[in-house]
Amino acid sequence: MNVNGKHYRTIWLNDDGSVRIINQAALPHCFELLDLHTVEDVRRAIKDMYVRGAGLIGACAAFGMYLAALEARPASFVQDLVAAACLLKSTRPTASNLAWAVDRMLLSLGVNDKDGVRDIERLRARARAIAQQIADEDADACKRIGEHGLSLIKAIATRKNGVPVNILTHCNAGWLAFVDYGSALAPVYAAFDSGVAVHVWVGETRPRNQGANLTAWELGQHGVSHDLIVDNAGGYLMQNKMVDLVITGADRVTRRGDAANKIGTYLKAIAAKENKVPFYVALPSSTLDFAMDDGIAEIPIEERGGDEVCYITGKTAGGAIETVRICPDATSARNWGFDVTPARYITGLISERGICAAEATALAALYPERTKY
Ligand code: MRU
Repeated sequence: MNVNGKHYRTIWLNDDGSVRIINQAALPHCFELLDLHTVEDVRRAIKDMYVRGAGLIGACAAFGMYLAALEARPASFVQDLVAAACLLKSTRPTASNLAWAVDRMLLSLGVNDKDGVRDIERLRARARAIAQQIADEDADACKRIGEHGLSLIKAIATRKNGVPVNILTHCNAGWLAFVDYGSALAPVYAAFDSGVAVHVWVGETRPRNQGANLTAWELGQHGVSHDLIVDNAGGYLMQNKMVDLVITGADRVTRRGDAANKIGTYLKAIAAKENKVPFYVALPSSTLDFAMDDGIAEIPIEERGGDEVCYITGKTAGGAIETVRICPDATSARNWGFDVTPARYITGLISERGICAAEATALAALYPERTKY
């Protein structure tokens, strides 16, 4: 998508084999590119959330495995790759895209192949090609999510006869969370680009404020009308008929359609059901985890440091970026990053193959090959 009129992806390979990313920790006040040269650079970028969002974490880890193939010693090539895979997988537990991408890289590099004869340069070239393919597929899947989701927005727009369609989203599931286009925001961009009037309610998404920092920034860059709201405003807006549709992203969706997403999503889903507002979850199939069924019992929920709750970072009137404490010095905090919305609250899932019910049979019909695990 565009930044100041120029097209960017969130991640790409430089000619010298290093990986370039948009540093999302610096947004929205500073647009900065960073180069990652080593597996350790990639580990830190994911762990410290210079890159974040399910699809982007997966693509970044895939490029990390390419760097691992460059770093691996010929005498211990497989062991070095497996060690890098474990390191990268340990960074963030909830988004299934991370392990999915790392495992796909391992598989395509034949680490289970016991013949012992390896052409290391050929494997390195293969690692580069597969990582690039994972990134390209992510962008392509998100583009298709946009096309499918557009039909939902168009149907509401027709009913509203030109009055803007109000869409509520949470966190950032826009292009910054993927390689391009986004999941929840892809239908919004598709609608905007085809001339449908849309307006987005952007939840700020405490504690890290991905809504305020990232979603508001990328919608603004694209010219999409939006307003920032506090996280607790969603219920009020739905009660007062100010939301036509909720679309969120997902970090992991189980085979029966339970969806993990940024903490606070579950409360919005309850409010949507109570107020009969359609609640859709958008995801590429790399976010599907058919090995899990009951999301609440099975999806690992990341718990992050309490400092993210106790402190807030922003720009002062003088233009300096500062971090301030918002609670008493002695107050401790807990910080769960995600919650699980049970499938019964989800009107439908929007994926690259179309829209389906959040339900095992419907998901299996759309992705039959994924049911064999
Ligand atoms: O902690 P983050 O920023 O990596 O969280 C991921 C998210 O941005 C959201 O949960 C998002 O809606 C799903 S990822 C596309």
